[in-house]
Amino acid sequence: MSTNPRGLESQFAGFDLLATMVAVIQPDGECLFANAAFENVMRLSRRAVVHGNLYDWLVDASHLREAVAGVARNAYSSSRFDAHLRRNPQHQQRNEEPLPVQVIVSQIEGQALVLVELIENEQQMRQDREERTLDQVQATKELVRNLAHEIKNPLGGIRGAAQLLAMELQGTELWDELAEYTQVIVHEADRLQSLVDRLLAPHRRAQVVVDVNIHEVCERVRALVLAEFPRGLAIVRDYDTSLPDFRGDREQLIQAVLNIVQNAALALQPRIAAGDACITLRTRVARQVTIGKQRWRLALELHVEDNGPGVPAEIRDRIFFPLVSGRDGGSGLGLTLAQTIAQQHQGMIDCESEPGRTDFRITLPLP
Ligand SMILES: Nc1ncnc2c1ncn2[C@@H]1O[C@H](COP(=O)(O)OP(=O)(O)OP(=O)(O)O)[C@@H](O)[C@H]1O
Ligand SMILES: [Mg+2]
Repeated sequence: MSTNPRGLESQFAGFDLLATMVAVIQPDGECLFANAAFENVMRLSRRAVVHGNLYDWLVDASHLREAVAGVARNAYSSSRFDAHLRRNPQHQQRNEEPLPVQVIVSQIEGQALVLVELIENEQQMRQDREERTLDQVQATKELVRNLAHEIKNPLGGIRGAAQLLAMELQGTELWDELAEYTQVIVHEADRLQSLVDRLLAPHRRAQVVVDVNIHEVCERVRALVLAEFPRGLAIVRDYDTSLPDFRGDREQLIQAVLNIVQNAALALQPRIAAGDACITLRTRVARQVTIGKQRWRLALELHVEDNGPGVPAEIRDRIFFPLVSGRDGGSGLGLTLAQTIAQQHQGMIDCESEPGRTDFRITLPLP
């Protein structure tokens, strides 16, 4: 047996071909070898990894200690458990979220060394999160729709009564004094009415299904938004023109993308004033994607990326819910509507945001 790193390196060189992380450690946790995938995820050089101790890189290493001890004393030959890996342990101040991983610990035949495999759970976690979001959105949508219906009927009555009252008052000496009140009632009832109409809108119109080209959709939205913001805003196209057409409701999809691009433009106001606001429309093919609970062989991704301040942290988890807004005068319906339209196309919208870069991704399955 050789514990000389160079000897080990050639012995385990094949692990560098793997996409999953592999480390070879001594029972005391000291890392003797780490493959390329491990280095990449840890963002450390191999030298730094090889001098480190694996027990220090897990948020809670007790499981790993037990498993290594068990394997080393031949109690069992392999063990599996979940853990959290600290990335780049030398830069804790960066405050990175620990990475959820599944850990597999095995004996290396005939050597007092232990093989540790770490498989990222991120994919799984993300999928779980998306499924939860879809369920929640479905539930709130029902609630809002029912509520909107309940508001609609009495609203008509209130408005009508205010109008009758105005007619009765006309010509009397009370008119001058009270006319304004009836106007306020009618005006506010109209405002509520249009809010309710928007809440009910996505469920009202039947889909008009035609062949849709996603770039045609992007171009329409781009022209509309540039007409609204003629100066200070660049809308960059980064299209994968090999994307095929698909069946969908073109007008609805334009509405969905427009809502997202308009949000970006509104968030970019200060940069538009400064003249360096930028929105990128990027299209890409995605393979083997899971949307909700369904798996698709092929999908398209449309990214709407902006260099604005980012979605306010307080509402980041809730922006797709109705009536959640982070700006004055916003009704908080734009993204709800966009998400509903995406779902009616078996797709979904998600968002990654940090100051300086916000990326809304629309994923739609392709035939
Ligand atoms: N690109 C973005 N950058 C920063 N914040 C964003 C971005 N897109 C959305 N938001 C935030 O998400 C909130 C919700 O957006 P949404 O479109 O649903 O509603 P709204 O824009 O407030 O109102 P409405 O679209 O109904 O007029 C916005 O108010 C804004 O705070
Ligand atoms: Mg909006």
